[in-house]
Amino acid sequence: MSDTGDNLFTREDPIFANKELLEISHLPGEGRIVGRDDEISNLANAVNPAIFGQSPSNVLIYGKTGTGKSLCAKYVSQRLVDTAGEEGVNATFAYVDCAQDTTETQAVQTIADSVNDDADTGIKVPDKGLSTSTYYKRLWRILDARYDVVLILLDEIDKLDDDDILMQLSRAGEAGKIADCKLGVIGISNKIQYKERMDERVKSSLCEREFVFPPYDANQLRDIMDARSDAFRDGVLDPSTIPRAAALAAREHGDARKAIDILRYAGEIAQSNGASTVRENFVTQARERAETDRFRELIRGSTPHSRYVLQALAVLSLSNERKDGFRTSRVYEIYESICRQEGSDSLSLRRVRDLLKEHAFLDIIEQSKHSGGSAEGSYTKHQLLEDPAVVKDVLTENTDS
Ligand SMILES: Nc1ncnc2c1ncn2[C@@H]1O[C@H](COP(=O)(O)OP(=O)(O)OP(=O)(O)O)[C@@H](O)[C@H]1O
Ligand SMILES: [Mg+2]
Repeated sequence: MSDTGDNLFTREDPIFANKELLEISHLPGEGRIVGRDDEISNLANAVNPAIFGQSPSNVLIYGKTGTGKSLCAKYVSQRLVDTAGEEGVNATFAYVDCAQDTTETQAVQTIADSVNDDADTGIKVPDKGLSTSTYYKRLWRILDARYDVVLILLDEIDKLDDDDILMQLSRAGEAGKIADCKLGVIGISNKIQYKERMDERVKSSLCEREFVFPPYDANQLRDIMDARSDAFRDGVLDPSTIPRAAALAAREHGDARKAIDILRYAGEIAQSNGASTVRENFVTQARERAETDRFRELIRGSTPHSRYVLQALAVLSLSNERKDGFRTSRVYEIYESICRQEGSDSLSLRRVRDLLKEHAFLDIIEQSKHSGGSAEGSYTKHQLLEDPAVVKDVLTENTDS
């Protein structure tokens, strides 16, 4: 037994030399952020006053998923903190993932906790148990005690339950809540419609500067992946791998997350096949996996009826050649038959319309208005933006669990 034991495990990863470079949370260093020079310098410009002890502008960043919003916001914030430090200004930034901290209380707690050091301030920020207003009071005290400037990054800001925290933070200075510390907010969202839902007063204070991050083109995606190719061992990547992954990731809109996911999965698929190189067909499989993951993530936590509505659209798309979408009445018919199959009462047409609207907001489907002329009036058509086969697969796997 003991002599075969040596061959039981592979001792060295044959594919990856440094896989962390392909984790989504990995923050690439200076030379590895590709194609975002203008965005980075605009952002830097907006928060620059912090370095001379003035208030940074509040900023709202928009852009589709995987366009480098979170990355650039964190990068600029870190650079600001470093440069301020060199100028003798005490600065910090706090990062909040609002998809995790959806309530005002959770978000303030996270901020207060991340800027605090109770050995220094003597102020405690317990995980829970205090009222929202007490968390705020502690946050203001901590900021005044420790910092000249703070940047607060609210990522996925559209996931917040309401606008209250935006109101509090964007006006903390003028409302006299903090005396010495200057505060700037960077809000980030991939929902272009988000601003329209915002309270007017919040809008005017939060959106002092607004930036839209455009999708990457295939060349930029290729550069982004090339800059991380040292994640793989020498000679493992076939020369066609990165261009192919870039082309696939640029298909809907240039999404760097998808590009990096595809590259990582392609490596994992090579690994599990015992292959010594990452070949092109692994890239194709990797893309399917990346799309499935993304869609699964998008619909996580959605209600059964919200899924039935999508399933109805997937069924229509798979059985029909029409490329321009399906009318609400048609989607509703299929939806009703799915409800019957599932033994569930169907919701009203009006509710189904609302569910479709929610999916459109998440960019899972696209809606278009049409005019049928005087006899018909106007109507809406709905179309899946995701691959219908992926939608169907994910939705059916979810009903099993
Ligand atoms: N210009 C770039 N250079 C290098 N890596 C990048 C670049 N842009 C994005 N990435 C990488 O792609 C992934 C996705 O980027 P990021 O998280 O910033 O996207 P996002 O715009 O915040 O997307 P979402 O709206 O989905 O949150 C990250 O791993 C990031 O490091
Ligand atoms: Mg992000």
